[in-house]
Amino acid sequence: MVQAWYMDDSPEDQRLEHHQSPPKFVSLDELYSETGVMYWKLDAKNYESEGKLAEIKTERGYTYMDVIQISPDKLHNYEEKIKNFFEEHIHIDEEIRFVTEGSGYFDVRDKEDKWIRIEVVPGDLLILPAGIYHRFTLDSKNYIKAMRLFVGEPIWTPYNRPADHMDARKQYVVAQKKGFPVK
Ligand code: LAC
Ligand code: NI
Repeated sequence: MVQAWYMDDSPEDQRLEHHQSPPKFVSLDELYSETGVMYWKLDAKNYESEGKLAEIKTERGYTYMDVIQISPDKLHNYEEKIKNFFEEHIHIDEEIRFVTEGSGYFDVRDKEDKWIRIEVVPGDLLILPAGIYHRFTLDSKNYIKAMRLFVGEPIWTPYNRPADHMDARKQYVVAQKKGFPVK
């Protein structure tokens, strides 16, 4: 099950949980209304026969898929990539990740610019909307395997904060203020 919570602001290792004391959890409904992040739980192993992934792909027009593994020995330029993933950034398209093995944290900003940490485990499919400030880190187990989906030819370019002048960012801010569409 995916879990999300407000982060503390300790400068400790990014791979730790960074819970507040006491922990302040965020429900999936709150996560959506604060950030527009969408979530599905799928079968991490039998997702093909399950059919939900195929449905989501058709509905949202995802035509591209690949698999990324992040661990010290499986990813080329690991240290540099880990550092870049944790730089706060946006993309001009959605970021779609379906976790099939391992775990990690996606951090996103609420309406007041506070960090919410989303823990992902096998079976979790997340869609981060275009223009959302976010970052990613492995947890202390140092391993994740995830499918990346995209509409058309993938563009993974990150634009580090500040990126407030970009159209994708402006559109996101309007949606976040106005309220994300009813699902
Ligand atoms: C990405 C994640 C790590 O941009 O945010 O791939
Ligand atoms: Ni990203």
